[in-house]
Amino acid sequence: MAKKTPAFACTACGDTFTRWAGRCTSCGELNTVKEMNAGEAQVAAKGREQVRAAATLATEAADAPAPQERHPRLTSGMSEIDRVLGGGLVPGGVTLIGGEPGIGKSTLLAQICGAVGRTLSVLYVTAEESTSQVRARLERLSSLAPHLKLAATGDAAVIAGAISSGDYRLVVVDSIQLLTLDGIEGEPGGVAQCRSCAATLVEATKRSGRDGRDPTTLMIVGHVTKDGGLAGPRMLEHLVDTVLSFEGDRYQDLRVVRAVKNRYGSTNDLALLRMGGEGLEQVADPTGLFIADRDPGVAGSCVVPTIEGNRCLLVEVQALVNQTEYPQPVRKVAGADQNRVAMILAVLSRRLRMPLGQCDVFVNVTSGARIQEPAADLAIALAVASAWRDVPVPADLVALGEVGLGGELRPATRYDLRASEARRLGFQRLIGPGAGTGRGRLVVARLGEAIDAALG
Ligand code: TYD
Ligand code: MG
Repeated sequence: MAKKTPAFACTACGDTFTRWAGRCTSCGELNTVKEMNAGEAQVAAKGREQVRAAATLATEAADAPAPQERHPRLTSGMSEIDRVLGGGLVPGGVTLIGGEPGIGKSTLLAQICGAVGRTLSVLYVTAEESTSQVRARLERLSSLAPHLKLAATGDAAVIAGAISSGDYRLVVVDSIQLLTLDGIEGEPGGVAQCRSCAATLVEATKRSGRDGRDPTTLMIVGHVTKDGGLAGPRMLEHLVDTVLSFEGDRYQDLRVVRAVKNRYGSTNDLALLRMGGEGLEQVADPTGLFIADRDPGVAGSCVVPTIEGNRCLLVEVQALVNQTEYPQPVRKVAGADQNRVAMILAVLSRRLRMPLGQCDVFVNVTSGARIQEPAADLAIALAVASAWRDVPVPADLVALGEVGLGGELRPATRYDLRASEARRLGFQRLIGPGAGTGRGRLVVARLGEAIDAALG
């Protein structure tokens, strides 16, 4: 007979009982036996041995690698994507690819399946399209591979079965929002269905490879709306090993893939791709990609060499400053941190007496690029100052440096890489704080000096 779990405990001596009593039979205190809540009861139910067994000396913990690390990574066929993944897809790992509808997730997966399916068995599961539609896309992308199978189903149990079968080295599911699991309430795409289906697939993936066969790698597509609001990818992030975010403007051809979570690599690299007539192509030399359409003669524009991962990318900050017609001036920022811009505007107002309080200010980083480092502060400040004075920043100048609240400037990291990449793309001068006075170097210590030097 199963032992009854204790539901009562003495608040004086801590002993536990299956029944309530007015007096504790262990310590003899009166009125100290109280009913435990569910959590306390669970803790009490665990035997001492079980608790002890849960911990191991760190020095004695098994040092064997996790099963997936024993197998070489799969290459996606695109070195840019492999780099973002930290060196390819980890066998037995689960990657979630999130992005807005129409951004190119199915295209990317089709191309990856085509590349991997040349030598390894791959299953592409589509819950959104028919197999003939997928086939047509594969053909168009020159990705019809000999070891690639297609399945049109939204039944998560069937897909989990395919993963468990050990027949495939890679399984791709497009998309999680259309999967269902029998016995789970709710519509496809709802929280309950998404979570249960994802958990089922992830479990099957993690179990794969235990029988000595090669583990199965899983890639799941999840649609995200612009504000990330859709039930789906956000709440699945903790279930998976890697989350790739697929971004870009669906009306322009540039696409950026970043790892927002990665158990098997860093999260600061990004892949730059272009959507063309034959699918996604890697961009060979991305340094100048974001400034390709720049018109340097216009006031309110400044270029900054930013670092993304291990790479230097030149991006253009644009600003527009306008006398406001509203009681509260408008502040709009795209591609940069709103708070950072607010801080820079405050420094310009207070330290440099620019009356921005009466102006609407718009700041935009062009071509869908995003600035994430304070090293771009000076370029933002110069773009705003240039817009306000209506004087363009010289066409051959890039700016680099962090702006402090006192109007002082601080140097950026990776100076040499940034300077040489800017020079390679035709920028003769670099303005910013810091040591060294190499060719084309304009050394300034304060924001005011930088504005005077750049705008005269
Ligand atoms: P898709 O991969 O279907 O997007 P998602 O799965 O994220 O919803 O791609 C959508 C767009 O990409 C579609 O508007 C057509 C375009 N596209 C190309 O420009 N070139 C191509 O080779 C392919 C396959 C698609
Ligand atoms: Mg799709």
